[in-house]
Amino acid sequence: MNQIEIMKARHSVRQYKDQPIEADLIKILTDEINVCNEKSGLHIQLVTNEPKAFDGFMAHYGKFNGVTNYIAMIGKKGNDLEEKCGYYGERVVLLAQRLGLNTCWVAMTYNKIKTAFTINNGEKLCIVIAIGYGETQGVPHKSKPAESVMKADKPVPQWFQNGIDAALLAPTAMNQQKFVFYLSGNKVSVKAGVGFYTKLDLGIVKYHFELGAGKDKFDWIC
Ligand SMILES: Cc1cc2nc3c(=O)[nH]c(=O)nc-3n(C[C@H](O)[C@H](O)[C@H](O)COP(=O)(O)O)c2cc1C
Repeated sequence: MNQIEIMKARHSVRQYKDQPIEADLIKILTDEINVCNEKSGLHIQLVTNEPKAFDGFMAHYGKFNGVTNYIAMIGKKGNDLEEKCGYYGERVVLLAQRLGLNTCWVAMTYNKIKTAFTINNGEKLCIVIAIGYGETQGVPHKSKPAESVMKADKPVPQWFQNGIDAALLAPTAMNQQKFVFYLSGNKVSVKAGVGFYTKLDLGIVKYHFELGAGKDKFDWIC
């Protein structure tokens, strides 16, 4: 499967089988996490065989079941922490999908089990991502019309349209899709709307846009 097919196949999954992730897949995920940490300065950690984070009232209220593995998105406190967590977390999410695993970003409905991961001085846990073998593959979310998440002089180049289509496949908190991409020449910028976790969403959709458009086709304007 190519990256677009992987993005199309990924949906949030909240119920998981009682099936451990094989050691060779854990190694592939950990290697990728290490690369992400090196590039970003984040302190992402894969937590396995830890059932307590998702066994409380909140998790069941949130319809989670059987979650015993998750990715703790940790990094230095600062303005860019959420966007970075979104960008690199989604990189790991799409790798997990390629490996036959399922995932779900979880901002709220879990317990923080302090002994399960390390948070160094000046760092914080931003969000977690449940990971494992889903009971199902999930279902596609409703996407906004492309025109409502882009501002550009028409006609737009195909690579930009591809980037927008990929961004609309991305997971966002409560499926809010509160982002707008702007095109000027071959320069692209993107702004987050007002809402919960929109900076995290921004990192996620930027990663999808790059995969859809092709990184060599454009430059980001900050
Ligand atoms: C930043 C972020 C936070 C999220 N938090 C939660 C959460 O706390 N509980 C939950 O059930 N789903 C959560 N989700 C999953 C979204 O509801 C889901 O991605 C969205 O509805 C789109 O569906 P899809 O992922 O199947 O495409 C979160 C997603 C993102 C990106």
